[in-house]
Amino acid sequence: MKKTERISASILSADFRRLRQEINTAEKAGADWIHIDVMDGHFVPNITMGPFIVAACRKATDLPLDVHLMIEYPEKFIRDFAEAGANSITIHTEASPNLYRTLQSIKDLGCRAGVAINPGTPASAVEPVLPIVDLVLVMTVNPGYSGQTFLPETMPKVKQVCRWLDESNFSADLQVDGGVTASTLPQAQEAGANIFVAASAIFKNPEGITAGIRALKAHLQD
Ligand code: DX5
Ligand code: ZN
Repeated sequence: MKKTERISASILSADFRRLRQEINTAEKAGADWIHIDVMDGHFVPNITMGPFIVAACRKATDLPLDVHLMIEYPEKFIRDFAEAGANSITIHTEASPNLYRTLQSIKDLGCRAGVAINPGTPASAVEPVLPIVDLVLVMTVNPGYSGQTFLPETMPKVKQVCRWLDESNFSADLQVDGGVTASTLPQAQEAGANIFVAASAIFKNPEGITAGIRALKAHLQD
């Protein structure tokens, strides 16, 4: 099934002194979604943003807010993120013993439900929940920081998940996140991903945010 290809701009590399302007510039340049990386210092070795920032982004843009929870006990916090204005909430298999239930709760809150796997987690970890998810995220770096190098060895997992979704005619989006640049995006696209998250390649692009988005979007098909 051919799916719409989109860029999800991760604000992790944005200049937080001027977050609204950074988001508005990304939006004008053609960003499709705004990706918000939530880290708790336990599931990953970094602490970032909470629902408060999601609410601030909600006031800055009408673009879908793509919230990526890299936290333990995500089930405790999904309501807060939904109420803050998240459109989709993605949780990790590694942090969710009651994966199926938590994904259902995300949907019950009116959000799209996403499931993510780290580079060291096999694709089979998401297979049981494919019938209920709206998005599958295959991490292409170890989660925790922006600016890391894309791991091409994760591509067989993208291909495998793509095959499963196609075979069952499931419409879930297939997302990659980490080290996505104009040079690495085509590999993920070739493997079957249709949502490309990028932080550094957009917000730290030496030629600016607009050039960063355009360079990524140049690869996308209509
Ligand atoms: C990593 C985050 C990513 C990160 C991507 O843990 O989930 O969304 O912001 O950053 P880049 O695009 O710089 O690799
Ligand atoms: Zn992310």
